Amino acid sequence: GLPQQVTVYEVGPRDGLQNEAAIVPVEVKAEFIDRLADAGHKVIEATSFVHPKWVPQLADAEQLLDRLHRRPGVRYPVLVPNERGLDRALERGVDEIAVFASATETFAAKNLNRSLESQFEMFEPVVARALENGVRVRAYASMCFGDPWEGPTPVSQVVAVGERLLGLGCYELSLGDTIGVGTPGHVTALIEAFTSPDKLAVHFHDTYGQALGNTLAALRAGVTTVDASTGGIGGCPYAESATGNLATEDLVWMLRGLGIETGLDLDKLVATSTWLAARLGRPSPSRVVQALAKG
Ligand code: HMG
Ligand code: MG
Repeated sequence: GLPQQVTVYEVGPRDGLQNEAAIVPVEVKAEFIDRLADAGHKVIEATSFVHPKWVPQLADAEQLLDRLHRRPGVRYPVLVPNERGLDRALERGVDEIAVFASATETFAAKNLNRSLESQFEMFEPVVARALENGVRVRAYASMCFGDPWEGPTPVSQVVAVGERLLGLGCYELSLGDTIGVGTPGHVTALIEAFTSPDKLAVHFHDTYGQALGNTLAALRAGVTTVDASTGGIGGCPYAESATGNLATEDLVWMLRGLGIETGLDLDKLVATSTWLAARLGRPSPSRVVQALAKG
């Protein structure tokens, strides 16, 4: 069966903007996040406390959090890779973070400058200290379906990394298809290999046009949290061939057709994508935005 309700975990301000060639002014980022909350989003991943040289697009994380108009009932998690990032986030009063692990050796090196094993030495104190401070922690596993250097990722390898992250005390594990190579049968097999699908979320990039089909497979397998990005912007600067995320509008169109509740206002989402596209200087890659945008 399918769920009656789905939580859309919006990653546009983080995953979307981290890969834009243009550096978006901090006021535009703050307005973007405000518009997303206005469209009904309850969880908006705002930015990353990573090394500013690694991701210059998000080097203004402190300034952005200072400008956020936090709304009651809306969560604004941020990405944190290490203790230095956690210190920065705690100084800004953040109450939810996400750590991001790699399911493959090569991507752990390229994205985190660590090995598959030593990435956990980086995350363990982060998760422990966050929980001590009352901060909720989400975990990502990246390259869950395949990796540009190593090919398809073995299901058992993803489960080992993922169960270890959940074991640290993360409330949720988001399965990342960083380069968008997954297909629905693979999605079903991966989710079924985990002991608790209720703790899983999915994070699809749409490189091969499979994101919606993969999402439907995940919903059928018991997942009720889906990551998506406004207008389908995004990608990972350290993953060759990564393109945009599943577009929030494409997701909402499908869910609405299935009678699944999201609490999101599609017209406002489309208007936000059109507004953002003008600031980024390129049209939204989302098919639903293209179909519904006015003018
Ligand atoms: P490193 O070079 O190994 O860092 O990078 P280090 O621990 O050796 O520290 C070196 C220096 O950096 C030190 O300064 C630290 O203080 C400083 P020094 O003592 O030399 O003056 N430093 C920092 N400064 C500010 N903020 C920090 C920080 N950390 C260290 N947080 C590191 C390791 C993890 C920092 C680096 O590799 C990094 O920042 N990586 C982030 C890459 C990234 O953000 N990628 C995109 C997000 S992942 C993604 O998009 C996938 C996802 O969407 C899911 C999917 O699609 O699958 C989540
Ligand atoms: Mg991503």
